[in-house]
Amino acid sequence: MAFSVAQRSSSVLRLMVRSSNKIRQELAEGPCQHLTKRVVLPSLGPVAIQTASLHGHHGSTKPLLGQAMGRREVHAGIFNTNAAAPDIHPLQGSTVDAAADKTTQASPRVMKRSHLYRFIAEVSQAEITKGQTITSVAHALDDMALNVTWSDGEVQAYPYAWLRDNCLCKQCYQSSLQSRIFSFTSIDVEMIPIYAVPGDEGKTVRLTWPDGHFGEYPSDWLRKHRFENSFTDPTFDSELQYWKTDLIDSGTLRRFNFHDIVSNDEALYEWLMEMKLTGICLVEGAGMVEGQVKHLGDRVLFLRSTYYGPTSHVVVKYNATNIAFTGKAFPMHTDLAFLHRPPGAQMIHCIEQAKGPGGENWFTDGFKVALDLKREDPEAFELLSTTLMEYQDIGEDVYGRFHQHSRHPTISLDRDGNPEHVYLSDHGRMPMMRIPVKKTQALYRALKKFSNMYHHPDNVCAYKLREGDIMTFDNRRVIHGRGSFEVTSNSSRHLETGYLEWDEINSRLRLLQHQFQASM
Ligand code: OGA
Ligand code: ZN
Ligand code: ZN
Repeated sequence: MAFSVAQRSSSVLRLMVRSSNKIRQELAEGPCQHLTKRVVLPSLGPVAIQTASLHGHHGSTKPLLGQAMGRREVHAGIFNTNAAAPDIHPLQGSTVDAAADKTTQASPRVMKRSHLYRFIAEVSQAEITKGQTITSVAHALDDMALNVTWSDGEVQAYPYAWLRDNCLCKQCYQSSLQSRIFSFTSIDVEMIPIYAVPGDEGKTVRLTWPDGHFGEYPSDWLRKHRFENSFTDPTFDSELQYWKTDLIDSGTLRRFNFHDIVSNDEALYEWLMEMKLTGICLVEGAGMVEGQVKHLGDRVLFLRSTYYGPTSHVVVKYNATNIAFTGKAFPMHTDLAFLHRPPGAQMIHCIEQAKGPGGENWFTDGFKVALDLKREDPEAFELLSTTLMEYQDIGEDVYGRFHQHSRHPTISLDRDGNPEHVYLSDHGRMPMMRIPVKKTQALYRALKKFSNMYHHPDNVCAYKLREGDIMTFDNRRVIHGRGSFEVTSNSSRHLETGYLEWDEINSRLRLLQHQFQASM
């Protein structure tokens, strides 16, 4: 297997993987910081990954790696530092962007991100386990931290309060539980150790505290916990891929086979990663039987139940209490905004599709549209991200009667100000508003503007599910709806929907990453 790397934008690198038995190349891409480290890959031995921009691009003064290697075209690469001749695979092109385009032409296949994430996980693992020895320790930060220096020149300060808090001795930490077994009541967070020395030939640091407590910290463990220099975690810090109306035509919508996901861990990983990054993907070939969303849920860990049951059957019902169970158009929404914690992700399995016209689904990337609104009308964005709307759902279903009532901003933001959950339900939105009357008109203008955007033909992707399809998507992000249809004596419509939570999805992704690492 051989790797090469191209710079796709100032912050994103593209990774190419070429295996000797398979002719084809597979691509992946991700943030630079993951791919610019000097690392040990078990499959390749020690490697260096370097990037260098072409002259003139970004005003870079760095030498071209390609020139250094005698190949003018190469601007980035990964090579085996043990090999006599570097194992480098040139990417042709006269500019960075052109090179990225060429790589796309060379391999029109949909990118396989799992390769990248497996790679990142491997890099992180290699980075922290590479067995560097500690050469010296010294007080730092006004004597409130310990500076640790490694044989490769890395230096990191570790605050004493943190070292005491994370003591690994048997009184403080039980390895079978992988957890701390004391509380703050028993430690002094102002303590400074009376002795601090490298131990075991630089493989540990030993600390003695003024109260006589003794702790020993392995070098690799310290390397893993490097505060702001720690590796990012792909299950937290992933770059989202935004989309619009041409989701399908552009090839952005990935398609997976149901049986592959059920039987193959790589397919499972790819599917979940795709739901995370693009927010939507299609699982095909699930047949026309019930219980298939439960099979997918079992592969993750378990399904998220709701008051509509472990899964829900969307069919036209006599005396329906929710618009879903009628043949009417179901306006654009995110599911169960009436809950304070709506389900994180959703799977819609089409068991039977309306034979006549209608019954198609619409999907819009709510995060992309929210960011468009932020750019175009920051005041409207501010109103929608701060004004609480109220939602309710009253009725009766499999578990009996319910009365749900929630409050949410329309666009909920994370700590960095990025959209983290869109809450939309025109059918469940209540008349109750607890805002100053004079703010109301501006709020309605903002709601109308946002609605125009998520209904805009440039943004909505329409797709009529085929029987056996399961559309799976991020319910925090993807605004969806359905066209009206008619039920006749020879045509009805039956969907089975199930939900997943992101904690379970992320847990599965981490387990799979460990599993892939172990097998490499
Ligand atoms: C729903 C829903 C889509 C459909 O029930 O929440 O979005 O196609 N249904 O019926
Ligand atoms: Zn201890
Ligand atoms: Zn829905």
